[in-house]
Amino acid sequence: MRAVTVVPLQAGSVDLTEMAEPPVEDGPVLVRTRAVGICGTDIEIISGGYGWAPEGEQRLAIGHESLGEVLEAPAGSGFAAGDLVVGIVRRPDPVPCPNCAVLQWDMCSNGQYTEWGIKSHHGYAREHYRITPDFLVKVGPALGDLGVLLEPTTVVAKAWDQVERIARRALWEPRQVLVTGAGPIGQLAALLGVQRGLDVHVLDQVTSGAKPDLVAALGATYHHGDLAATGLQPDVVLECTGVGQLVFDAMDMMAPNGILCLTGVSSKGRSLGVDAGEINRHMVLENNVVFGSVNANRSHYEAGAQALAKADPAWLARLVSRRVPLDDWRSAYERQPDDVKVVLQFAD
Ligand code: BGC
Repeated sequence: MRAVTVVPLQAGSVDLTEMAEPPVEDGPVLVRTRAVGICGTDIEIISGGYGWAPEGEQRLAIGHESLGEVLEAPAGSGFAAGDLVVGIVRRPDPVPCPNCAVLQWDMCSNGQYTEWGIKSHHGYAREHYRITPDFLVKVGPALGDLGVLLEPTTVVAKAWDQVERIARRALWEPRQVLVTGAGPIGQLAALLGVQRGLDVHVLDQVTSGAKPDLVAALGATYHHGDLAATGLQPDVVLECTGVGQLVFDAMDMMAPNGILCLTGVSSKGRSLGVDAGEINRHMVLENNVVFGSVNANRSHYEAGAQALAKADPAWLARLVSRRVPLDDWRSAYERQPDDVKVVLQFAD
């Protein structure tokens, strides 16, 4: 079968390669991949900055945002041929650590977790995969091909879940939300904010095109340029760019009791000067919280599926700005100016 693979940490190694059919040991459910979504992590892996091959192998099949169709499933597994499914990205570490032991693999505390398509296990950008039913999530027929948006939605479902858990430390009546970055993660973070009835603002660099239009269609407010010039004083900030300067600027403008969630995995080696005294003082005197959030456990897949079911399907369809056939796979990984979510189509 064909798969999009890389030699991890080796820029320029990405290729559409032949790969053995998935081994039976991977699980009793056989799935045919219909589509994989492409995100910044895939681009980081392709550029040689991230990623791990499975033990004893040289290449890693990438792809962690997926939609597939079940070809074979054992009776009693909860799945049947024809079901549309999404595979969970992370697997608990083998020890397992206390968090993984209670299925909070997204909070793994010893770093020995694996991630399909990212860390030590082949991903979903291959024509078939085998999996165990406990790491598979069914997608309703109403969502159909838009089910490929589930994995990125789980990432923001977790971010919101964490914000709301932290907020329980005191009385809190949030009003204004700032999302930095109007890419797919930013758009989905904004969607979940709007669904909570909050006043959502999204900041990005572009001045026209699909990103501002999508924000407006959500009923949120789009801003571009300098963050401080927006005059916002958000109760919640969801930082979805990983740009260091934005992170510190956002810290400095939060409302009292504000919560800033960092979701962008940035590249290492970027330094900048900050007034640490001012930031510390502002955070202490206003009870602000800054925290990071990564990955998602099964509860977030459920929350993500509910959020997508409530969303306007026409808006979700616009989020997928390009669907690229497998024969043209290379262009799927090359950024184009008006890209939002690009999807590589393995099968219809
Ligand atoms: C994925 C997460 C993963 C993270 C770090 C993100 O792109 O969506 O599932 O945990 O990368 O590897």
